[in-house]
Amino acid sequence: MLSDSFLLQLADQYGTPLFVYDGDLVKERYSELYDFIPCDKLQIHYALKANYSIGLLKILRDAGAGIDAVSPAEVELALRLGFAMDKIIYTANNMTDAEFESVCATGVVMNIGSLSRLRKIAKKHPGMRLCLRFNPDVCDGDSVHTMTAGALTKFGILLDDMEEVKALVREGDLHVIGLHEHTGSGLQHAESVYTAMSRLMAAAAPENFPELEFLDFGGGFKVPYKPGEERIDYVTMGGKIASLFNDFCKSYGRDLVMRFEPGKYLAAEAGHLLVEVNTIKRNRERLIAGCNSGFPQLIRPMLYGAWHTIDNLSNPDGPRHLYDVCGNICETGDRFAEQRELPEIREYDILAIRNAGAYCYSMGGIYNLRSMPGEVVVSGGKVVYRRRRLSDGEMIENILKEGVDL
Ligand code: LLP
Repeated sequence: MLSDSFLLQLADQYGTPLFVYDGDLVKERYSELYDFIPCDKLQIHYALKANYSIGLLKILRDAGAGIDAVSPAEVELALRLGFAMDKIIYTANNMTDAEFESVCATGVVMNIGSLSRLRKIAKKHPGMRLCLRFNPDVCDGDSVHTMTAGALTKFGILLDDMEEVKALVREGDLHVIGLHEHTGSGLQHAESVYTAMSRLMAAAAPENFPELEFLDFGGGFKVPYKPGEERIDYVTMGGKIASLFNDFCKSYGRDLVMRFEPGKYLAAEAGHLLVEVNTIKRNRERLIAGCNSGFPQLIRPMLYGAWHTIDNLSNPDGPRHLYDVCGNICETGDRFAEQRELPEIREYDILAIRNAGAYCYSMGGIYNLRSMPGEVVVSGGKVVYRRRRLSDGEMIENILKEGVDL
C-alpha cells in the first residue's frame, strides 16, 4: 500500500495531475490468483486494455503473465515488450481483413467470435489453429455497458450455432485448440462465473472439439470500489472454479490449461489519480471543488456512473462538507463525484481519486486540449518507471504533424 504522505510527495515532485501505480500491488494481485485457484495448469493473461502503462506491463511480464490483446497494436506492443507469442491471445471483435492478416502473420493465436470470420478462415486459411469465442448467455457486470454476454451483445458465437461451427471446422480442416467466453466486467454474482464456465465446458465436449489445449474463461473478477463494499471470497470461488474444471478435464480425458484474463482485478486498486484543487465555489446549495483534471482523464464516473473513492490527502481531518468534485472541462457533467461528503477542501489541496488503475488512463483523451497526465510506477518504495506528461507545446506539435494541407 502506498501511504498518503508518499503520494503527496510524488505530487510535489512530479506535479499533478499524475497517475501513480503501485507495481507491488499489481504483482500481488497477479500471484494471489494462483493461490486462490488451485489448478496446476492455470495461466493468467492480463487484459492489456485495462492499462497499457509500460512500467506495469514489464512487472507483469517478469512475473510470468500472458496477455489478452484486442487490437493489432496491443499484440505488437506485447510482442515488443517481450511477451512470448504463445502467451498472447488476440480477441478482436469486428476485425478487418487487414487486421486479421497482420495478427495472423505474427503467429499469435486468434480468438474468433463470429461465424462470418470463421467462414472466411475456413475458405482462405485451411488448417489454421485457433480459439473460438462463445457467448455464454449469462448477463452480469457492474454496468449495462460492461455486460458482455446475453441477448443484446455483439460478442461471441451463439452456442445454438454449434452445428454450423462444427461444419465450418470440418470444411476448413481447422484445429480448434481453445474455447473462450467472457461474461462481463465487475461480475456481481459468483454464480455467473460458474454458469458461464459450465456452459463453455459443455460445449467443449471431445465429440465437438477433440484437439483442445485450453479453455479461457475471460476476465471480470470484481474488486471493491465503494467504502464498505465487501471483497469477494476468492478462496471459495477459486476452489469451486478448480473443482468444476478438474471434473471437466476428467470427462474430457486430458488435463487442459485453464486461462483467465483479468484486467480490473490486477490493476484497478493499484492506481491513484492525484489532482490539485484550484477553485472553491459556492453555487447556492452546492459547494464545488474544481480541480486540474477532468473526465477525459478518468471517464468512468461520467460514462458509467461509477463510484471512485476520493480522499483529501492535504486535509484528511478537516470538518466534513458535501462537495461536487468537478474537473476543468467545459461540460456540466464533468464531475468525479457529486454531493460527496469529504473533509474540508481548500484551494491547492491534493485529492487522490482511488481505484484509478484500470480503464482510466487507457480510456483517456485530450478533449479541450489538455494533455493526459504523467504517470509513475512505484515498486519497493521507489519510482521504477515514469512517463512524462506532454507539455502543451508538445501536444500541439503532435496535432500539427498529424495532418498536411493538400
Ligand atoms: N477479456 C475480454 C474478452 C474482455 O472483453 C475484457 C474486458 C476482459 C477480459 C477484462 O475484463 P476485466 O477483468 O477488466 O473486468 N471500461 C469498462 C470495462 C470494460 C471491459 C471490457 N472488456 C470499465 O471501466 O468498467
